[in-house]
Amino acid sequence: MGEKPSRNLALELARVTEAASLAAGRHMGRGDKEGGDRAAVDAMRLVLNSIDIDGVIVIGEGEKDHAPMLYNGERLGSGNGPQVDIAVDPIDGTRLLALGLGNSIATVALAERGSMFRPGPFVYMDKIAVGPGASGRVDLDAPVADNLKAVAKAKAADVDDLTVVILDRPRHEQLIGEVRRAGARIALITDGDVAGALMTAWPNSGIDMLVGIGGAPEGVLAACALKCMGGEIQARFRPRSSEEAELGRRQGYDPDRRLGIDDLVAGTDVFFAATGITDGQLLNGVKYSGTGATTHSLVMRSRSGTIREITSIHKWEKLMTFSQIDYDLRT
Ligand code: FBP
Repeated sequence: MGEKPSRNLALELARVTEAASLAAGRHMGRGDKEGGDRAAVDAMRLVLNSIDIDGVIVIGEGEKDHAPMLYNGERLGSGNGPQVDIAVDPIDGTRLLALGLGNSIATVALAERGSMFRPGPFVYMDKIAVGPGASGRVDLDAPVADNLKAVAKAKAADVDDLTVVILDRPRHEQLIGEVRRAGARIALITDGDVAGALMTAWPNSGIDMLVGIGGAPEGVLAACALKCMGGEIQARFRPRSSEEAELGRRQGYDPDRRLGIDDLVAGTDVFFAATGITDGQLLNGVKYSGTGATTHSLVMRSRSGTIREITSIHKWEKLMTFSQIDYDLRT
């Protein structure tokens, strides 16, 4: 006899990321990163507060964004229900949204209280992420060419069949050279390495691996998603200065420690949701019509491993009679 079905919080999280995307999507291409972020943060916070959880934000709007809300330590939810850690990235790819480029998403994750990693003062991490087909085969400390060979072997493919996602940054010049010399294809992204990590585990994305240095909070969110999807991520802090490393040490961190997926999120009942804001390889962006909008989301739970793809149709006529968020800018 198994257990009775339990509450799948990921389904409730879909409403959180849908709200963030619906609000933020209005800012596409307007060149206003802060405006888009504010809209996503306000909407996400409002809906998160309506859920029966006793939540505390562990991964909030980091110091990089100087956001006044959804800050680390903020309590969210009705206060009733399970005690959980919350990770949010109301917009992964604020610049993508501001410029009207693809792949910006709204994301949120929940896990048992005390089980999400707190990156402390560290802003960046070196990361390697793969999907379920190559889990357990890569090593953050190995040369990228060796990792590519291992992934190719695991997938019964050749290295030149593989595509690697890398953030397009000057700091990755050497890494990009190494991947090119190894013979793999590269998808350079201007932003959004949470989406990049998810793509490694999404069958039709055509992406096999993510490598390089990206945000530390984004590393924890990616770990939550990959735990649900059966993928893997390994990471290590990349302090920006000796002062940042020293500050981390004083706070009890070992800046040199290699972090595995279970270090980044130790929970065994992890929930994750993402909704597309602009069109991308992973998710369709928000489409507005005169009367409403359509959103496309992924919601998942690590315990069951179920991944749901949800297309939602939102109708202003009804929604705007009670919503506190003005999605229909004409009212
Ligand atoms: P924001 O949308 O919060 O600005 O983050 C976008 C992003 O590209 C992340 O996906 C990535 O982890 C990080 O920024 C990389 O940082 P940087 O732009 O400083 O290289």
